Amino acid sequence: MTHPIDSEDLPTNPSHNEHFQRVVERAVNRRGFLLKTGVGAAAVGFLSAGLTGCGGGGSDAPVAGGSTPPAAGPLLGFTAIPTDTGDRVTVAPGYTATVLAPWGTPLFSTGPGATWVGDGSEDAAAQARQMGDNHDGIHYFAINGKSDEGLLVMNHEYTNLQYLFTNGVVDSLDDANKDLNAHGVAVVHVKRTAGTWAVVVDSAYNRRITGNTLMQLTGPAAGDALLQTSADPTGTAVFGTLNNCGNGWTPWGTYLTCEENFNQYFGTTNTANPGQTRDANMVRYGLSSGTTSRKYEQYFDRFDWQKEPNEANRFGWIVEIDPFDVNATPKKRTALGRIKHENAAYAIAADGRVVVYMGDDQANDYVYKFVSTGRYIAGDIVNNRNLLDSGTLYVAKFNDGATTGDMMGTGEWLPLTAANPALSAFSSQADILVRTRQAADALGATPMDRPEWVTVHPQTREVYVTLTNNSGRATTNDANPRTGNVYGQIVRWREAGNDPTALTFEWDIFVLAGNPTIAQANPLNNGSSNVTVDNTFNSPDGLGFDNAGRLWIQTDGNYSNTGNYANQGNNQMLCADPVTKEIRRFLVGPVECEVTGLTFTPDSKTLFINIQHPGEGGNSHWPAGGTARPRSATLVITKNDGGVIGT
Ligand code: FEO
Ligand code: CA
Ligand code: CA
Repeated sequence: MTHPIDSEDLPTNPSHNEHFQRVVERAVNRRGFLLKTGVGAAAVGFLSAGLTGCGGGGSDAPVAGGSTPPAAGPLLGFTAIPTDTGDRVTVAPGYTATVLAPWGTPLFSTGPGATWVGDGSEDAAAQARQMGDNHDGIHYFAINGKSDEGLLVMNHEYTNLQYLFTNGVVDSLDDANKDLNAHGVAVVHVKRTAGTWAVVVDSAYNRRITGNTLMQLTGPAAGDALLQTSADPTGTAVFGTLNNCGNGWTPWGTYLTCEENFNQYFGTTNTANPGQTRDANMVRYGLSSGTTSRKYEQYFDRFDWQKEPNEANRFGWIVEIDPFDVNATPKKRTALGRIKHENAAYAIAADGRVVVYMGDDQANDYVYKFVSTGRYIAGDIVNNRNLLDSGTLYVAKFNDGATTGDMMGTGEWLPLTAANPALSAFSSQADILVRTRQAADALGATPMDRPEWVTVHPQTREVYVTLTNNSGRATTNDANPRTGNVYGQIVRWREAGNDPTALTFEWDIFVLAGNPTIAQANPLNNGSSNVTVDNTFNSPDGLGFDNAGRLWIQTDGNYSNTGNYANQGNNQMLCADPVTKEIRRFLVGPVECEVTGLTFTPDSKTLFINIQHPGEGGNSHWPAGGTARPRSATLVITKNDGGVIGT
């Protein structure tokens, strides 16, 4: 099939826009972190250089071809809503949220899986042709630039065993395969008819990519001995992608799915000497010393690390998928490193090199970026196809800067290359990439408070990262300023010279999440000055800009509504003005869910997000209500007057 993507889907240069100029002026004048109480000093803005917008744009929102200029009025136009603890979705007044494509939705009208029973009785063959579980990262690929027809591509991160199976456990080979088939990615043709979005059942584009789908390892580590198994002595052919968390997309029309907690699928049935033979690499990435809850190791040799010690090395990558070619083999891009990948956000440098920002979601792990060797050429599919196979991977060091305690500073990008003398203990570039974490350890990268989503401002190209929380934070620094961090923060940085390929940057904390509704022993737990009793939240996770530069923040945190989390309710989505730093609550999800993934149609009038694992603790029946099993699902959000989301 050909790519029905036209130039309207590709990034354009909005730098001459009047609104943008105003944003830049305010940004220069108003940067810096303001503490709510007398802790530390109000910082002086660290930006002195003028800013130049240069196209690119790595937000997880599509950059439309001028069809939606940034807002002329205030960036945040909606009325904030209160917290909620109900088993429902609440959204700002004047907006409507409807459910689309929940777990189990059939993608085809005949054959296995054509009907969803809803009691967990479907078999593996049925699940392979239905929507998977635990919707996460998502992207809308417009068909011919349309805002009413496109491909929704989304991740299915993991499964809720208690709902996936009638008896709540994996206890057969078919169960294990069903579980694998509920993982991965869905490519779903969607269309809006008479105002209502629906799945185009039987579309030739509809596709499930699962934990069993053949994919190819590419890039510097492909074929290396570390990636060879008895089933695949070539070290290039892998079955499946697992624990697909956040996502990215490229300007050449591909989807990036990010393998996160892959370690949880690998165990061993030989528990007589648990842990005795896990090597340092398995320990660093957290493979189980014994059995796992999904029991794959019991049904497949490849998931037993004592039998196939290299199989786990074939997971933890970013996988590139062509959503418009149902026959295309997904490619695991080893040049981008092997970590617990959260998501991926790109920027295009002035010389055309592609930069991809990434986080490793583990307490005290790192932030990375990849800089391609080749250059992006708009419209040149052959040139762009394998840009992610060759380049340099860097890990970030966040320094405190001139002043400690002001929550801003400087940073450096440290190269993870065989030429780096600090990595002489690694045998090759492939070794560095397979053991990315250990290489980053050796370079002295800054351990962060669990890096989650990264996003790039579509005009200023500032990069924002959510650091969700870190109960294991013992030693603080300016970017991670609280021990036992229960609320999380968002850090942002600007590359030197506004060049995404630069080796240095300046950073500050955009928001220190907190809870000012309760008495706090540590004043920092009230949060930064832009956290109020009206917008309090914990554990920022999903993150993305829209075309106009609104920053959308999603939470995957503690929803107990008690103690540290009193008055914070269910997980939620908020929206921030990156200049004024104002944050407003836009939406609240149902009981025991997380809110994750976001993408807009090119006209910015439809927003798709995902509700993941409602009722993970057994207390939700969302969305059907009654006694139904809860289901992860996509939410379609529109403004009742047909306007742009966020206005
Ligand atoms: Fe799958 Fe780090 O969230
Ligand atoms: Ca500092
Ligand atoms: Ca996440």
